[in-house]
Amino acid sequence: MGGYRELFEASIRDPNAFWADAAKAVTWTREPQKILDDTNPPFYRWYPDGELNTCVNALDRHVDGGRADQLALIYDSPVTGTKRTFTFRELLDLTARFAGVLRANGVERGDRVVIYMPMIPEAVVAMLACARLGAVHSVVFGGFAAHELATRIDDARPKAIVTASCGIEPTRTVEYKPMIDAALDMAEHPAPVCIVVQRDRHRCQLQDGRDLDWTDVMATASPVDAVPVKATDPLYVLYTSGTTGKPKGIVRDNGGHAVALLWSMRNIYDIAPGEVFWAASDVGWVVGHSYIVYGPLLLGATTVLYEGKPIGTPDAGAFWRVIAEHGVKALFSAPTALRAIRKEDPDGEHIGRYDLSPMKYLFQAGERLDPDTYAWAADKLSVPVVDHWWQTETGWAIAANPMGADPLPIKAGSPTVPMPGYDVRVLHVDGSECAPGEDGAICIRLPLPPGTLPTLWGDDARYQRSYLSEYPGFYLTGDGGYLDEDGYLFVMGRIDDVINVAGHRLSTGSIEAVLATHPAVAECAVIGVADEIRGQVPRGFVVLKSGASAEGLPEELVELVRTEIGAVACLRTVDVVPALPKTRSGKILRKTMRGIAHGKDEPLPSTIEDPTVLDKLKPILTR
Ligand code: COA
Ligand code: AMP
Repeated sequence: MGGYRELFEASIRDPNAFWADAAKAVTWTREPQKILDDTNPPFYRWYPDGELNTCVNALDRHVDGGRADQLALIYDSPVTGTKRTFTFRELLDLTARFAGVLRANGVERGDRVVIYMPMIPEAVVAMLACARLGAVHSVVFGGFAAHELATRIDDARPKAIVTASCGIEPTRTVEYKPMIDAALDMAEHPAPVCIVVQRDRHRCQLQDGRDLDWTDVMATASPVDAVPVKATDPLYVLYTSGTTGKPKGIVRDNGGHAVALLWSMRNIYDIAPGEVFWAASDVGWVVGHSYIVYGPLLLGATTVLYEGKPIGTPDAGAFWRVIAEHGVKALFSAPTALRAIRKEDPDGEHIGRYDLSPMKYLFQAGERLDPDTYAWAADKLSVPVVDHWWQTETGWAIAANPMGADPLPIKAGSPTVPMPGYDVRVLHVDGSECAPGEDGAICIRLPLPPGTLPTLWGDDARYQRSYLSEYPGFYLTGDGGYLDEDGYLFVMGRIDDVINVAGHRLSTGSIEAVLATHPAVAECAVIGVADEIRGQVPRGFVVLKSGASAEGLPEELVELVRTEIGAVACLRTVDVVPALPKTRSGKILRKTMRGIAHGKDEPLPSTIEDPTVLDKLKPILTR
């Protein structure tokens, strides 16, 4: 642990020296002279006078530096039966030309572009093309439906949208275009241009004067050079669920992001240029941004873009096939994927069918890696199974096991230790520090390290309110847990109304907001309950307006959430109940409901208005 300790303490003692040294891995057009700008707390900026282009760092410099013919991207799509590879030269050529397309359609430095795409190479090209222009991309996960898309469009106010005709799920084709059309109809600030990749599986209708066919515009596109931007300029905005219905636009800057991801690729993931890294996530999530697209490419490694599932495409051996076929050194997935594989193949028979010798690590994040799933994977795969904890806000691991710097003994159930720059403290409600082993709110002493959110898109006040106001001087992660005697962190779950469904972060508040729009619903509550495969799933409870009928209502509400938020919300159960338990001030007792649903002997809160409401609800909650 000596190596790690030294590294960590150096980063806290002298962040300027630590992150100046890490910044040497980046190619700057203007080297930063200042490392941390701490003149305006609680807002901190990294490398305020540095300039660079993230696309140059991800592509051009590898082409110029001898990696032009090395694979940058391997696209493996069992849902379409397609595999394609792209060298760094090929990916740069496509990206520079697509940047030309965007510019020809009015996109310039600082403008936003919404990307709503399935896991196809054009999604990566579109992201990098934005970075090349100094434009700001905002990728929206394909599992979200029109209303969620419209909310994000209105917040980001994009100059263009890039999309595809469809996404392909194992059992159905998801048409994207009707969703885009509906979202643009709903939005108050619709984008004037929509560039559409027409996929073979389903071609969509293009709207004259607004929609352009990707193939047509690329055929005549001229490549453009990269635009240097300030290190503090935004590279992207990624919306994530907060505790209310309105998603938060997490801002990522260019400079700190490049430095932090490069540091993490070598020191956490132990990847060198030329090696193959695979994050089995989606470009719509932060894991996809950081570790399908930017991290591996910034380093000059090869990344895998996988359009498929852990099971059913075609079987529970899908992951192992990809690792063997493409020589993947490290796989990064969510525990839910392992649980799904384990359920279908408990003895790991598929694992034995492939040569997994290239694989050195299995990294896990997105939700807690429960000790049971950890034990299964470690036993069956015989490689270190490394949990690490982070969030959309931070963009890279808060706590991890630094496999490339100083691998530490693994403790099942713990994502190991805080990474450099993250001064993690577990706090009581009154702000005092918890003793080792004692549960509390996991916070990070400011400033956060490079690569983490500097603010929320267009909303400094909400940034302060959401993260910085509860414990002055600290960033509130929203997770609860404890540090043990050895300094290992244990992250036990959210302490707010955010839930984690199959590694996807959702807000119960946004589901409630949809349920509340139904004319028969007087009030409602949504809580997260445990699920064997997905970790958590939402459960809805509604109270009827007087005179309204419950007949067919649960099914209608399930469908409403699917249409408004998207299939990914996974709301399958809604109960009509006579009343919801509340405090005397009218706050719904969601935490108490959650506890009872999980079989806990919840003490009655002293503030409860009417205990009999809870008594009547108990049999439904425990069903
Ligand atoms: N576009 C459109 N719909 C999508 C989608 C996308 N990109 N991704 C998921 N959906 C849909 C699914 O088709 C499903 O719809 P259904 O209700 O009609 O069946 C619904 O959203 C729920 O999806 P999911 O929870 O993914 O269920 P699943 O049955 O398709 O797969 C798992 C189950 C466990 C295999 C899957 O959840 C999984 O692979 N999880 C890993 C997720 C992950 O990597 N997260 C990492 C973030 S770091
Ligand atoms: P997201 O922003 O979608 O990446 O979700 C972040 C949230 O997922 C965190 O705040 C945690 O609640 C949860 N999470 C992610 N990784 C882990 C992990 N390794 N252990 C426990 N919880 C995790």
